[in-house]
Amino acid sequence: MKKVTVITSSLRAKSTSKTLMNEMVKGLKEHHEVKIIDISRMNLKYCIGCMTCQDTGKCVLNDDVKNVIEDVNSADTLIFVTPIYYYSVSGQLKTFLDRMNPLYPREDRKFKEVYALFTCADDDPKATEKPTKAIEGWVECFDGVEYKGYYDGLALNDVGDITEKDLKGAYEFGKSIK
Ligand SMILES: Cc1cc2nc3c(=O)[nH]c(=O)nc-3n(C[C@H](O)[C@H](O)[C@H](O)COP(=O)(O)O)c2cc1C
Repeated sequence: MKKVTVITSSLRAKSTSKTLMNEMVKGLKEHHEVKIIDISRMNLKYCIGCMTCQDTGKCVLNDDVKNVIEDVNSADTLIFVTPIYYYSVSGQLKTFLDRMNPLYPREDRKFKEVYALFTCADDDPKATEKPTKAIEGWVECFDGVEYKGYYDGLALNDVGDITEKDLKGAYEFGKSIK
């Protein structure tokens, strides 16, 4: 059993990515302990680039990141859940990734594997290429961490577009993560 931290980023009340995430989490829970960090419920400020965290290990900003950063650092596996926005990750997820800068110099980092779950309106599997690159860019900054793959919910404008096949696919994706 691993500790898996899922970071979900849509601000929509009826969200395609969160709907598929819930199915993925059912699959994950068959093997793992799961913690969900929901950015939509967080007070999340932008990184101001002061770099204080690189010396002190702590962020100067006072918001909800301090309550969740250890759930990122101490997880075995991270899964980022995001709608595709302009063929990248959502701005709110990017802000969260930037705010993980205090983890960059730390030597007690535990997470080794990163996955993603994307949803988008586009039905072309290539839609995930650029958001994948965005996440890979973050992953590659952390030695020994690997981007292991993603689930794509394509052709999903809103929750009404979600089919049984999508739900099952997300569940199976979660279950396949060992
Ligand atoms: C600002 C914005 C940008 C978007 N950009 C894209 C895009 O580049 N490609 C795409 O296929 N869908 C795009 N979409 C559609 C969303 O990815 C799609 O509606 C998705 O299901 C939203 O997920 P959510 O319900 O979890 O927020 C965009 C939506 C918004 C609001």
